[in-house]
Amino acid sequence: MPTTDTAPASNLRHAAATVAARIETVMRTDLETALAGCDPLLMEVLQYTLFNGGKRIRPLLTVLCSRCCGRDDEPLYLLATAFEYLHVATLVHDDVIDHAEQRRGQATVAARHGIPAAILAGDWLHARSMHLIGRLAGAEGLDIFCQATASMVNGEFEQLRAIGDSTTTRQHYFSVIRQKTGNLIASTCAIGALFAGATIAERQALATYGDHIGAAFQVVDDLLDYLGDPHSTGKKTGNDFVEGKITLPLLLALNSASGTDRQAIETLIRGDRTRPEAYHRLYALIEQQDGFNASADTARHLVASAVEALAIFADATEVQATVALLKDLAGYILARNK
Ligand code: IPE
Ligand code: IPE
Ligand code: MG
Ligand code: MG
Repeated sequence: MPTTDTAPASNLRHAAATVAARIETVMRTDLETALAGCDPLLMEVLQYTLFNGGKRIRPLLTVLCSRCCGRDDEPLYLLATAFEYLHVATLVHDDVIDHAEQRRGQATVAARHGIPAAILAGDWLHARSMHLIGRLAGAEGLDIFCQATASMVNGEFEQLRAIGDSTTTRQHYFSVIRQKTGNLIASTCAIGALFAGATIAERQALATYGDHIGAAFQVVDDLLDYLGDPHSTGKKTGNDFVEGKITLPLLLALNSASGTDRQAIETLIRGDRTRPEAYHRLYALIEQQDGFNASADTARHLVASAVEALAIFADATEVQATVALLKDLAGYILARNK
């Protein structure tokens, strides 16, 4: 959470820590139950990947969205846990796809236990999350959840198609990030609302909020891939460039550069991207073209749209404290350094 100790930030920090502690307790109990009689290595791999300092933003969103619509009880935390399972499943598989070595400040599952263990542990988490969603949010919840997962996969395919392609458009970038990250975050919000028996309008408003903060979340993640401190993010910087991902700072730099600068960027993208000098040269060119500031502006606009979607709760006096937390969480997504 942000370091400035203003009242909203401290309310959010407190809510986030309380929900995270509860989610971790529920996860431990659920793993004990679900893995009874299973191979001990499976438990070891799952413990390794689940209890290592994740921010637990998705389960927090499920809890806050359900609370906003009037429900906060024990089963809600199991439902929220399902979203952390799904999220971690996507991270474990994503690290195989992205050849990543570090996650949450430690070796990725693939680096530590090998690719077969990473594929299988991700599959287990995915299956368990679907089981829990079906049990707690019914066929309608499972439908939203599976659509979001299917679209995440399609977003990853669209991303693969654009690897190293300097003609990628802004429209393509946003299609990828909304599918790979925004829809899952939107589904955590929509299913939290569904679980609480929200009206269709409330559900749509929370899904819209989630879709915008989800897109902002990925824009900021893409910025942190260049600007972040690996000690805070727990991930290596520069990986997106090495992998040939044309993320927003690079895309905006390409759009604003002309002549020899544009040619220089294109040559770096086509060349050996593993060379540290190539990364440093590219970084300087993005900075020169204001790609980092322009990306941060985009994230700010997305967060403002997310907050606007919460206007539907303006007259619901009994949930104002929760709505304020959702607004603070949107602000945190911009300010985060991890
Ligand atoms: C990382 O998500 C993956 C993205 C969608 C960008 P988080 O930054 O929420 O990862 P953890 O759970 O806190 O490690
Ligand atoms: C996250 O995108 C995509 C997922 C569906 C998990 P990234 O590849 O940018 O996430 P990090 O940077 O590895 O966490
Ligand atoms: Mg990745
Ligand atoms: Mg990233």
